[in-house]
Amino acid sequence: MDNTNVINEIRSKVDIVDIVSSYLPLTQKGKNFFGVCPFHDDTNPSMSVSREKQIYRCFSCGASGNVFNFIMDYEHVSFKEALYILSQKTGVEIKGLNIQKKSSKYDKLYEIYELAHKYYQNNMNSSYAKKAKEYLSNRQIDEKMIQEYKIGLSLDKNDHLTKLLVSKGYNLNVLNDIGLSNQDKDVYMNRIMFPLYDLNGRVVGFSGRRYDGIKENKYVNTKGTKIFQKGETLYNYHLAREFVRSKNQVIVMEGFMAVIRSKEAGIKNAVGLMGTAMTKEQAALIKRLSDHVILSFDGDEPGRKACLDNGSELEKLGCQVSVVELDHGLDPDDYILKYGKEAFQNLVNNAITLSDYRIKRLKSNINLNSDLEKTEYIRSVLEETSKIEDEIHREFILKKLAKEFDISYNTLEKRLLSFLKENEEKEKRKEEKPFTIKAPTIKKDKYYLATYALLYYMLVDKRCLNYYNEGKINFPNEEERFLASEISYYYQKYGIITPADFYTYLSDKEKLLPVLKKALELDLNQEVTEKELLDDMQTLREYQITQEIKKLKKQMENENDVMIQAKIGLKITELNTRLKSNI
Ligand code: CTP
Ligand code: MN
Repeated sequence: MDNTNVINEIRSKVDIVDIVSSYLPLTQKGKNFFGVCPFHDDTNPSMSVSREKQIYRCFSCGASGNVFNFIMDYEHVSFKEALYILSQKTGVEIKGLNIQKKSSKYDKLYEIYELAHKYYQNNMNSSYAKKAKEYLSNRQIDEKMIQEYKIGLSLDKNDHLTKLLVSKGYNLNVLNDIGLSNQDKDVYMNRIMFPLYDLNGRVVGFSGRRYDGIKENKYVNTKGTKIFQKGETLYNYHLAREFVRSKNQVIVMEGFMAVIRSKEAGIKNAVGLMGTAMTKEQAALIKRLSDHVILSFDGDEPGRKACLDNGSELEKLGCQVSVVELDHGLDPDDYILKYGKEAFQNLVNNAITLSDYRIKRLKSNINLNSDLEKTEYIRSVLEETSKIEDEIHREFILKKLAKEFDISYNTLEKRLLSFLKENEEKEKRKEEKPFTIKAPTIKKDKYYLATYALLYYMLVDKRCLNYYNEGKINFPNEEERFLASEISYYYQKYGIITPADFYTYLSDKEKLLPVLKKALELDLNQEVTEKELLDDMQTLREYQITQEIKKLKKQMENENDVMIQAKIGLKITELNTRLKSNI
């Protein structure tokens, strides 16, 4: 079935400006809207969104597309899922299209997890749950929270869930594969079950906590499966997103209990790593949420080390990192319970920069009786200080150091300056390195401009399309010819064409998409005069003739026969005359 018309209708019912601005702030300048592009590392508003054309385009990284492309790239979803998200966001119904929320080959696995989740939740309502509820209540997790965070319970029977799922027709091997069963036994027994979610908010695993007071094997987590990889998700990612955006700040914690407690305290922009280790994938997810990151790990040695390590990783990705430090032995959950939510909120608001945190950590490790260690400490602090942008802040640190170690300010400053110089040189070397990712800048000569202008006008102006169909426009290169013929074909088939809809059509034609992008990159108006069209067409003809002349000249060079050479010469003269007389 060809869904093009339905899909185009859906697209025409939404405004790309509304959709993009639901993800990032846009400001209007002239007839376009501008925002910071989410598809590359940037702080400048280099993305423009056109209400008129219903497309977006980044001047810096070249990302562009229609509303579907935006959602696909932003949410990392397939076209179908983007369509679904769009309908959810706007209430536009998707009639006549067979779109399901989970159009993946893993539907059955999600389904099993839904069932298991319901089963565990039901157990929480049974008489067996008395002890578990007592435990939760002691931890200040009340009934309302059990409901809200969908906390469940596994029983002390060792095959209840497995039997239930098998009786519903699910294959035991599948249950083993997805980490719910082990042979014919349940993986989870006698544990409080915290659901784990994928980035889209589907339950894909569990963390089961024991509640009998024994510390060993405190948590059992679902093993890595086709739908769950611990290192590729963040707890609360799907719910935190909108709050992260509105605050332009994401708080990263170790565990889900910390995140849950923070949410109860009104801090909704927190996500959990599920431990202190942060994978590359998780770092990228965090950076994608926001480049203002606050680390709030546990107040113990692993937590402190994780702040330094993960903080540096995030800094390398271009994040601005700050750190919340908790009293020894407390995690955010404990802290909030002990001192209250305002106190924690205060700590978050006063998080110190990663540089300051490093300096603080350095100090806690030195032996103040050793001059060697003190020297090394001062050197490290100065190195760290040289990374701080604020001059006044730097001066504060120097003064403090001078006083504390009774060293002259000048000596310290001299050393700091040499670090600053070193940094500057490093920066310079970095800049001098050629960009490897950036596409080579193409020289946009008049032929290039004419070619892509005409391709663009074919999309927005009927006259131009007619000229093409009448054979009056000949594009110089194969890819451009191919795109032109696709435009013409699309129009013939659907009777109407817009740049935004044509984007959708090209979504699975990877070779042609960049050609379309080049045409839209010129940022031309929809309106074009007849003269402009004819001028561009003339320029292309000129190009053809010049190419022809070049070819002939080459031929002549390689030709030994004088007669043939003369003939070619004649042809060249002819072409040159045509070129001059504009025919
Ligand atoms: N974790 C784990 N297995 C463990 C310990 C921890 O998987 N044996 C993960 C869990 O995801 C947990 C996170 O690491 O959420 C943080 O661990 P920890 O600070 O020990 O747990 P808390 O969140 O403080 O949990 P609780 O308060 O229940 O002890
Ligand atoms: Mn805890």
